[in-house]
Amino acid sequence: MKLDRKEILKALETITIAGEGKNMVESGAVKNVLTFGDEVVVDLVISTPAMHIKKRAEDDIKKLIHEQFSPEINVKVNIKVETPENPNQIKGKAIPGISNIIAVASGKGGVGKSTVTANLAVTLAKMGFKVGVLDADIYGPSMPIMFDVETEKPISIEVDGKSKMKPIESYEIKLLSIGFFTSPSQAVIWRGPMAAKALNQMIFDAAWGELDFMLIDLPPGTGDIHLSIMQSLPVTGAVVVSTPQAVALADAKKGVAMFMSDAINVPVLGIIENMAYFTPEELPNNKYYIFGKEGAKNLSEDLQVPFLGEVPLVQSIREAGDYGRPAALQTASPLEKTFEEIARNVVEEVVKRNDNLPPTEAIKITTMAGCSAVKK
Ligand SMILES: Nc1ncnc2c1ncn2[C@@H]1O[C@H](COP(=O)(O)OP(=O)(O)O)[C@@H](O)[C@H]1O
Ligand SMILES: [Mg+2]
Repeated sequence: MKLDRKEILKALETITIAGEGKNMVESGAVKNVLTFGDEVVVDLVISTPAMHIKKRAEDDIKKLIHEQFSPEINVKVNIKVETPENPNQIKGKAIPGISNIIAVASGKGGVGKSTVTANLAVTLAKMGFKVGVLDADIYGPSMPIMFDVETEKPISIEVDGKSKMKPIESYEIKLLSIGFFTSPSQAVIWRGPMAAKALNQMIFDAAWGELDFMLIDLPPGTGDIHLSIMQSLPVTGAVVVSTPQAVALADAKKGVAMFMSDAINVPVLGIIENMAYFTPEELPNNKYYIFGKEGAKNLSEDLQVPFLGEVPLVQSIREAGDYGRPAALQTASPLEKTFEEIARNVVEEVVKRNDNLPPTEAIKITTMAGCSAVKK
């Protein structure tokens, strides 16, 4: 049987790899198609490490060639993943230029939500993604300190004739924080709709440019304020941070339930266990489970949401946070690896989510509906 390369290429145009808008030929994923007698070799380069997507691409190609040409053909698919150099094309859409909005939440305060957000952000940036962080924690905005930009004030710039807020940049992360607009001593007592309005402005009236990921550091808890924020922004998915101790887990559970509730309905990408165990820097193999062992991991199994990984309690994470340089930036450190693994898991879950679900819609709250939605 004579196989024609061009015909095979044409046929491959009917297949789209999950998360990459165009078909695999147009998107450039197909690097080569070779034919040897009754053997076809397809070389693919894709931008996501997600196993199930690779498998799906391979299966789709085999099925197509068997169906359209002959079931006798021996099809070989070589897949190479190029994530770091090639920021991928995960698309969740909803806000022009911002592909994915990830809300980082915790039930309880002080569990390391902001620390995890900052480290996840710099790790995603190192992987080649364009990343923004929106610090929405009106009770305790901490991103300005964690990114060492406490004294900065965002300026206004003109974009297409409109005046927009320019995010502050630090470690290649674009950053806006409620903290830039309030003095540290000023206790911010905002009601949900006010906070949502301020955050809306920080998203829609800011010059973020193109972002693969925007991480939102939410306030702790599961109050009205979350309802307002989540209802007014098209959030792709939520990540819940918890320590392994029972009091934190109980609140994390409430957090997960909140996202899954009908009123909010945001997919939970998974749970991260912070302060999973204590490790003294000089004895890295000693692990002390001071808050209990694998509590968040078990919770994720109970709730059937993905477990995204664990972060140990180490002094250098706290110091790095206070100093204003996220610990994951330290190259070749165990923490860099820890956060890389978590970031990879997050990206995988986002890809899966975008593959399976339509983009989360921002629910436009009219004044009346908004009031009733946020009233206790
Ligand atoms: N894994 C960790 N190891 C050591 N210190 C941590 C860790 N995670 C958080 N911390 C510290 O705990 C404190 C609270 O963390 P933070 O991220 O501000 O919590 P949240 O945002 O949930 O309130 C901070 O001082 C931070 O540096
Ligand atoms: Mg915080």
